[in-house]
Amino acid sequence: MNLLTKLALGAMGRLRPRPALGEGAPTITLPPPPRAGGLPLMAALAARASAREFAPDALPAAQLSALLWAAWGINREGGGRTAPSALGAQEIDLYVALPEGAYLYDAAAHALRLVAPADLRGVTGYQDFVDDAPLDLVFVADHGRMGLVPGAQRESFASVAAGAIAQNVYLYCASAGLATVLRAWIDRGAIADALGLPHEHQVLLSQTVGLPKAAG
Ligand SMILES: Cc1cc2nc3c(=O)[nH]c(=O)nc-3n(C[C@H](O)[C@H](O)[C@H](O)COP(=O)(O)O)c2cc1C
Repeated sequence: MNLLTKLALGAMGRLRPRPALGEGAPTITLPPPPRAGGLPLMAALAARASAREFAPDALPAAQLSALLWAAWGINREGGGRTAPSALGAQEIDLYVALPEGAYLYDAAAHALRLVAPADLRGVTGYQDFVDDAPLDLVFVADHGRMGLVPGAQRESFASVAAGAIAQNVYLYCASAGLATVLRAWIDRGAIADALGLPHEHQVLLSQTVGLPKAAG
């Protein structure tokens, strides 16, 4: 769908999911993530960049697993994560919009749990590439987990945590030769509706990931 159509539908509150492409499994168990390998950190930083052209191919399960673990996985005893959060609130929920359904990343189980059996990719942003790239991440802050954070700071602290996760995604993508772009130009109401979020859950950002579009 082109940008103008999406903007018009968004203005009317009618940016809606498409039917799922195939039947999404209730749970996608991810293979164990690698704890080694990839580009050296300085080389990944040197390669980090935003890209807005994607091949439609699905990511192999091993890459999806590594991507989600790098983003916001559990990396130590006690449940610590690959990105920081104020007071350790771990308030960010990471959703993954796939053609066959929208899933919530369950870091403890390192699995994806189906939350909406529809293709939400096109709802995750106004730019046309989001519709057909293999996956769009959505960063959601659960304000209910931020009871110890003063109310006035909750949104900014959650945005910082989401930014740290997004940079993890950028660095993994740089290391794995994937394309990605973080996006704030999104219809937060449409995404919240499509995911069925309760009111204390706030949509912050989206990020598209996929193989780079082949040259030529
Ligand atoms: C908070 C934030 C929001 C962004 N929103 C969008 C967006 O909606 N669409 C987009 O194409 N790029 C978006 N970007 C990506 C920036 O345009 C990009 O990072 C910038 O042009 C610098 O390019 P680079 O990432 O390749 O260094 C966003 C970046 C950040 C940090």
